[in-house]
Amino acid sequence: MPERKYDRILRIAKSRGFMWPSSEIYGGIGGFFDYGPLGSLLKQNIENKWREIFIIREGMSEIETPTLMPESVFLASGHIDHFDDPLVECKKCQENYRADHIVEEKLEISTDAMGVKELQKLISENKIKCKCGGTFSEVWAFNLMFKSEAGAGKIKRDVYLRPETAQGMFVAFDRLYQVGRKKLPMGVCQIGRSFRNEISPRQGMIRLREFTQAEAEIFYNPRKKEHPKFSRIKNHILPLYTEKYQEEERKEVLEMTVEDAVKDGVIASQLQAYYLVLAEKFFEEIGIPRSKMRCRQQLSDERAHYSSETWDIEILSEDFGWVEVAAIADRTDYDVSRHAATSRKKLEVHDEGEKFIPHVMEASFGIDRPFYCLLEQSFVEEEDRTYFKFTSEMAPIKAGIFPLVKKDGLPEKAEEIFSDLIKNKIIVKYDSGGSIGKRYARFDEIGTPYCITVDHDTLEDGKVTIRKRDTTEQEYCKTEDIVEKLKV
Ligand code: GLY
Repeated sequence: MPERKYDRILRIAKSRGFMWPSSEIYGGIGGFFDYGPLGSLLKQNIENKWREIFIIREGMSEIETPTLMPESVFLASGHIDHFDDPLVECKKCQENYRADHIVEEKLEISTDAMGVKELQKLISENKIKCKCGGTFSEVWAFNLMFKSEAGAGKIKRDVYLRPETAQGMFVAFDRLYQVGRKKLPMGVCQIGRSFRNEISPRQGMIRLREFTQAEAEIFYNPRKKEHPKFSRIKNHILPLYTEKYQEEERKEVLEMTVEDAVKDGVIASQLQAYYLVLAEKFFEEIGIPRSKMRCRQQLSDERAHYSSETWDIEILSEDFGWVEVAAIADRTDYDVSRHAATSRKKLEVHDEGEKFIPHVMEASFGIDRPFYCLLEQSFVEEEDRTYFKFTSEMAPIKAGIFPLVKKDGLPEKAEEIFSDLIKNKIIVKYDSGGSIGKRYARFDEIGTPYCITVDHDTLEDGKVTIRKRDTTEQEYCKTEDIVEKLKV
């Protein structure tokens, strides 16, 4: 079988330092990856683009809350009761499996919305067995949160690693509302790690047990579902894979302006439509082509327990099909009212003479999946080289600086240019090892958009050769113009 694109990319990612399986010297552990030096830079560039859109352009506030939270938070949020997958264990080989996956694979049917009892019935009636021939245990609901304890002895408390960053923003709602001078709508964001104890994470980077989320929670008055900037985006056309299209098993999407989508009730509100457009914009700005994206309406039986309406943004991957990378969910007043009831605190707002519990529109993004999708979408394989065609903004290293030879004053001149660029806060790498061709190949492979060569002419006329990664075209450039050139 030919090697999958995922494996070809992962091979480069590991050897060049984008990422690799965590705790590798101990055999690794499924669902955990380390980001290496280049991967950390690329991931930060993705996160910074998200911040640019949500914090700078949209004016939302960013906060940072702990990853461990007390049990009461998740009793209130419903994660202790609802956040689970149906599990079975093989009585012979002791391997654990998702019961819904087993049924889907064996019977070739959809198990969406099937509960534990229904899955159990299908496994028993159809005498479904494990690959090893063993029979399965009863199906049970396996909670996906990692549990731990804080403290010791009598005062120790049960705590959980958060399955979403969102809860840190919901439980701090009252503080945020006071700090935000009691105004709605109020957008609060958080970028941080979340944790889910996936049963058998076999999809590499696509299904992680520890992952980074970037989430925006917009607290709003349920009688005001308009967005003040809707007129700016109303003519934008979104590719909508509606619930109806999915039920009819159609493959194409419905292309329509967001204005029509809201008017026709395809998207429930301006608020939800606005954040769908913003999400698409974010992915486009990091380098995902629009042609590889769609907005999929979650079916009513697949929505999370807190949501009245959810639209996913999906990116088409060569090896994984349509991958969910973000979700825009109307969480109603579910979270804030549950926390108000459980904590017995008044979490009300006053808006235009009314007193009510705010509703929340959530724009939730994974960062690791878009990271992989960006690698995949950017990966170019030519006969004699491979490269990632990252934009200058996303590229971990913006340029390689090469002296043509290691003598005649060329290294000194190249180091001078290198110092000038880092003084301008541009991440560049100096490289004097091997032929120029080999150096080009090394920097192409990691997606560096420019290579700058200092030769003997540079000492005479102050010009360097800038070689562009995608076209391999070369041009002469005055040393004082390099900073401007690298921005393009
Ligand atoms: N906050 C939504 C999610 O984590 O799925």
